[in-house]
Amino acid sequence: MEKTFIMLKPDAVQRGLVGQIIGRFEAKGCKLVGMKLMNVDKALAEHHYAEHKGKGFFEPTVAYITSSPVVAMVWEGKNVVTIARELMGATNPASANPGSIRGSFGMDISRNVIHGSDSVASAEREIALYFKQEELCDYRKAGEEWLND
Ligand code: CDP
Ligand code: MG
Repeated sequence: MEKTFIMLKPDAVQRGLVGQIIGRFEAKGCKLVGMKLMNVDKALAEHHYAEHKGKGFFEPTVAYITSSPVVAMVWEGKNVVTIARELMGATNPASANPGSIRGSFGMDISRNVIHGSDSVASAEREIALYFKQEELCDYRKAGEEWLND
């Protein structure tokens, strides 16, 4: 089953939005298979955002992500990478759909509340950066039969 890496960024934790955001993934039907509150160090943040190295927002984004704890999660489900990106909304909360997470909870691109993998390949890379295999739970969840045929 497809998996995606989701991170609730330091602003989400500091602003007390963790429960509400997790609730949206649960309500949608995504399955939580990994989760931890953690500090991201500079080396990990630079690996995570390696594709953006050299861009003007790279250093500020590394500073933002390492500034305070984050909630790192792995969610599972059919097409979950795309579904999670839809739930999150556009990168800039100022223009994100107001029903999305970034559209509901953010004001500015530099504090956009949440990260989600942009492809299955990115998800595999990011999950491996943040989680050991044994930290992910493989289990059957009640009601799964009502989400897909
Ligand atoms: O996170 P997403 O994949 O939607 O966007 P990205 O283009 O891959 O950028 C990664 C992250 O860098 C964003 O989520 C923002 O936290 C930050 N960023 C920024 O602060 N200013 C920008 N102009 C672009 C990105
Ligand atoms: Mg991205």
